[in-house]
Amino acid sequence: MSQDKPNKKIWITGASSGLGLALAKHYLLTGNRVIASARSEGELNQLAKLYPDELSFVKFDVTDNTQIESVANEIEQLTDQLDLAILNAGTCEYFDVDAPDWSLFERVNQVNYLGVVNSLQVCLPILKRTPNSHLVGVSSQAVQAPFIRSEAYGASKAAVRYLLHSLRLDLAPDDVSVSCILPGFVDTPLTQRNDFDMPFIMSPEQAAHRIANAVEKRVFEYAFPKRLTALLALARLAPSGWFKFNARKRTS
Ligand SMILES: NC(=O)c1ccc[n+]([C@@H]2O[C@H](COP(=O)([O-])OP(=O)(O)OC[C@H]3O[C@@H](n4cnc5c(N)ncnc54)[C@H](OP(=O)(O)O)[C@@H]3O)[C@@H](O)[C@H]2O)c1
Repeated sequence: MSQDKPNKKIWITGASSGLGLALAKHYLLTGNRVIASARSEGELNQLAKLYPDELSFVKFDVTDNTQIESVANEIEQLTDQLDLAILNAGTCEYFDVDAPDWSLFERVNQVNYLGVVNSLQVCLPILKRTPNSHLVGVSSQAVQAPFIRSEAYGASKAAVRYLLHSLRLDLAPDDVSVSCILPGFVDTPLTQRNDFDMPFIMSPEQAAHRIANAVEKRVFEYAFPKRLTALLALARLAPSGWFKFNARKRTS
């Protein structure tokens, strides 16, 4: 039986674009109440016209820890309970070892990893007092094997994954489930900047549908699509083959 029945109260970060926006649409369409956060409203404006009572926007720059208290207060004004929090806000910058911009490690980490830590400070107190609540974080399939130029992005997503695995243990007595999502390539503004092949890429709507199904089943870790998961498992089984394949790409 479904654990995440409609009319849940759901907080989604990074909801103004891409995957977060598609998740917000999915949960609104299926009869839930969504609190959407990002630095800008983006396309949420259009969605708010369709769902004036069910969608609220709470502005939050996840890198700014001075906003934690006011964002938490704003959410508490809207709802005293949160059934589900999806910490999805993220960014990607690629490292160039020949012209290194070392500051990008800090920028990427601030959003992808410390942004999750800041978001946890907003939502954990509310999740803890909501019976049978669920915390979901968005990592990446990039953590399954090393990719070229992904030093900063991959490390930040590996940190998110470890954080969620560890939190799952600590939150078990509080009746808060924890899930980690590892998407493959999704066609969003984040990947539209990429200049390389993205195998098995899918639309944000397809990805949101898969994620919502996994969330409903409270899958602990959900990596998709399976074909990419299998390819990356092979990479781990044959690391020297993966090394040669990728090193060749870097020199070509
Ligand atoms: N697309 C993929 O192939 C893929 C694959 C694996 C994992 N992911 C992960 O999925 C998540 C969503 O990515 P996406 O592809 O949907 O990217 P996207 O379209 O660029 O959306 C990123 C979202 O994060 C928000 N965001 C960025 N910086 C923020 C900040 N400092 N504070 C608050 N919100 C911030 C953006 O809103 P504002 O700019 O308005 O703040 C936007 O809503 C990310 O964590 C990404 O790493 C994506």
